[in-house]
Amino acid sequence: MKKQNYTVKQIQAVDAYTIRHPVLRKGKPIESCIFDGDDLETTLHFGIYNTEELIGVCSLLKNNNPKFSELNQYQLRGMAILQHQQGLGIGHILLKYCDTILKEEKTNLIWCNAREVAVNFYKRNGYRVIGHSFNIKGIGPHYVMKKQLNLSD
Ligand SMILES: CC(C)(COP(=O)(O)OP(=O)(O)OC[C@H]1O[C@@H](n2cnc3c(N)ncnc32)[C@H](O)[C@@H]1OP(=O)(O)O)[C@@H](O)C(=O)NCCC(=O)NCCS
Repeated sequence: MKKQNYTVKQIQAVDAYTIRHPVLRKGKPIESCIFDGDDLETTLHFGIYNTEELIGVCSLLKNNNPKFSELNQYQLRGMAILQHQQGLGIGHILLKYCDTILKEEKTNLIWCNAREVAVNFYKRNGYRVIGHSFNIKGIGPHYVMKKQLNLSD
């Protein structure tokens, strides 16, 4: 079996679009991959590479959800792994990396709007569902999910 060599790096928003597009916005215009806040100074984009190939991305936006009282929150967005690389633990590596970075930033809470199909993935990575499902037009049912970050770990 070929040995995998995964590394996570900070990337530019435009690099994230190359993975968001086939995975999250397939068949839609490339502009649909641009999210509000992508270019803010506080926004962080990460990519996971297998050797030289970018195979997955996610983005962290400094955005407090009014549902939660924590002072320092980030929203996880655009979590996407190329289809043929899914189910190999790559998403897990990327989420773990985000936790480490956010703890350094003294972030207490990470949250996301999770697609129904990804809820179990987030649960296995320490997130829990908050409230009922809601619909995002053109994409489908979602749940708010959150994970408390223990800054003393
Ligand atoms: C959701 C998504 C980001 C998860 O990333 P991933 O790399 O596939 O996730 P992982 O491999 O870490 O975990 C997924 C599953 O693979 C399993 N797995 C982990 N390591 C594995 C390994 N070495 N071999 C086989 N399976 C493994 C896990 O048990 C997990 O099972 P689950 O689906 O029952 O939770 C990815 O599948 C994806 O991009 N999906 C399409 C877009 C999407 O829905 N994004 C989320 C938007 S909110």
